[in-house]
Amino acid sequence: MYPLIRNRRLRASESIRKLVRETIVTSDDFLVPLFVVEGKNVKEEILSMPNYYRMSLDYLEKEVKELWHMGLCAILLFVKVDDTLKDNKGTEALNTDGLMQRAIKTIKNACPEMLVMTDVALDPFSSYGHDGIVADGQILNDETSEVLAEMSVSHALAGADFVAPSDMMDGRILTIREALEDEGFLNTGIMSYSAKYASAFYGPFRDALDSAPVNIKNVPKNKKTYQMDYANRFEAIRETQMDIDEGADIVMVKPGLAYLDIVREIRNEVDVPLAVYQVSGEYSMLKAASEKGWLDHDAVMLEQLTAIKRAGANIIASYFAKDFIRILG
Ligand code: PBG
Repeated sequence: MYPLIRNRRLRASESIRKLVRETIVTSDDFLVPLFVVEGKNVKEEILSMPNYYRMSLDYLEKEVKELWHMGLCAILLFVKVDDTLKDNKGTEALNTDGLMQRAIKTIKNACPEMLVMTDVALDPFSSYGHDGIVADGQILNDETSEVLAEMSVSHALAGADFVAPSDMMDGRILTIREALEDEGFLNTGIMSYSAKYASAFYGPFRDALDSAPVNIKNVPKNKKTYQMDYANRFEAIRETQMDIDEGADIVMVKPGLAYLDIVREIRNEVDVPLAVYQVSGEYSMLKAASEKGWLDHDAVMLEQLTAIKRAGANIIASYFAKDFIRILG
């Protein structure tokens, strides 16, 4: 007796493995998150995100040119604003000369073809560290959506190609789409964080932007009334379908690795491009383990990125983008 089918024939050498490989990650797949701060000549490492930086606009310009030359063509922009500019309504987010608006212009001047997507949520601008307006211990849904729509228009006006609402208010995609249309931004896209879970993997990001919910009486201590319960899957499909119906061009699952079952389900259900956000905690875990010599950084990184794409992601938002290009050699 012998096995009629020997699957190992297709694994016998690197050449045959390459020939039959089903999933290949390329530089085209990446969306590169960047953190911007006020000032000049600032490039500060984020404590809980080794080798990842917040940078002032002059450094941003250099970084963007470097990314472009590396073949990385899409950026997801976040800003860290000074505490003195924060309030409950995220007023600073609408400042036409605000940090986000200047960052968009800086990138478009330096590198016009670089695709710019902007984070739309109140948390970096909120004195309470919430994605929406807080009142009586609640996050106000519809009032927040109105601010997000104004914020989106302001980003479009500054030159953003896509806005990326990361807040999880109900109905905000429609409110944003209508506001963009009303202002004539017919071609500004929306990448919706459609299935965004209330995850402890966001910790390092909240350090990066100093955007964690504050510990004050009558302010919710977490984001569980708007971000999704990680125990749920049907809800992810419902959320995603809703955002598509409201006008989202691209949908997203976030975080990545612990949610690849959701990625596959959504990929099978919908036909718009699907992004996956490999979040800060996923990045920092691997950096920490490899610093200790416990994991092979590059091998684990490639395995994770490939798994995300294999699960069905068309776009990967990842802090590993430059590391990935480096290992391509
Ligand atoms: C908030 C926002 C978060 C991230 C992106 N946008 C954090 C949060 O919801 O608290 C997390 C990204 C990451 O962890 O890398 N609007």
